[in-house]
Amino acid sequence: MSEKIFVIGANGQIGTELVLALRGIYGAEQVIASDINNPNEALRNSGPFEFANVLDKENLHALFQKHQPTQVYLLAAILSAVGEQKPKLAWDLNMNGLIHVLDLAVEFKVAKVFWPSSIAVFGPHSPRQNTPQYCVMDPNTVYGFSKLAGERWCEYYHAKYGLDVRSIRYPGLISWKAAPGGGTTDYAIHIFHEALKTGTYQSFLSADTRLPMMYMDDAIRATISLMDAPTEQISIRSSYNLAGMSFTPTELAEQIKQRLPDFTITYADNDPRQAIANSWPQSIDDSQAQTDWKWQPEYDLNALTDTMLKNLQNTLVL
Ligand code: SER
Repeated sequence: MSEKIFVIGANGQIGTELVLALRGIYGAEQVIASDINNPNEALRNSGPFEFANVLDKENLHALFQKHQPTQVYLLAAILSAVGEQKPKLAWDLNMNGLIHVLDLAVEFKVAKVFWPSSIAVFGPHSPRQNTPQYCVMDPNTVYGFSKLAGERWCEYYHAKYGLDVRSIRYPGLISWKAAPGGGTTDYAIHIFHEALKTGTYQSFLSADTRLPMMYMDDAIRATISLMDAPTEQISIRSSYNLAGMSFTPTELAEQIKQRLPDFTITYADNDPRQAIANSWPQSIDDSQAQTDWKWQPEYDLNALTDTMLKNLQNTLVL
């Protein structure tokens, strides 16, 4: 059967790269990108695009009717830092957007749905090192508890309606093709831009704030391999823990300094994102993903630093 893939929220950091990867695999015409905003250049130039608002179920219904997707990726969301500024909107979008898509996926018999969760589902009472798949989860950001509730809905739709929905708890994702979307881990992208543009960066997280991170190519590869895995290998229908690397702003700055010796870093006091980072894991146990669908990351901190600097050097207008 030929696939028709509908990507909602395609204009964001993950969506931009995922659409390009899926178009490479399935063909440009088979992958419909959609977003509430105008498409960025990469999307516009590479295949079909529709405007979609996940809070408008009629609009979504018409798009499902028109395209009859076999796979849906729902990426539209408000992330952790912006979510704390707009808590009700973040809840509405992250929750009702998901429920709309799950309902339509059941109605239109969509074969597979992907929805991203996050390390933000953990909270201050979760173990912070090697955070296991199952443990105390008491997220204290709207983003975090909207993702945790979303995981419960995904598992519920799978159990109750047989919907083949799959999910990953992404760590902080680092990439150079599209801008990050207002999260707590965004410093690890801004730092590369500023290192090349100005030679200095003020981190909004403190020197020793360790967080789980991943280079975007690994995240896209994980997503596609989870979606390709045979159904019987998927033992988790809430969301899989996934790990790449963990580092602090100081460790990242050291890596940059090895390549740009004049680079300097300073640290802000009292940024509201610090409290969010303090409630999140420092490292993640992803053994279930390794067992179920053979997950292995390819990028470590060294490879990440090389790749980010090389690509931004070629693309940034300095
Ligand atoms: N990178 C995201 C954020 O910081 C985590 O899911 O909000």
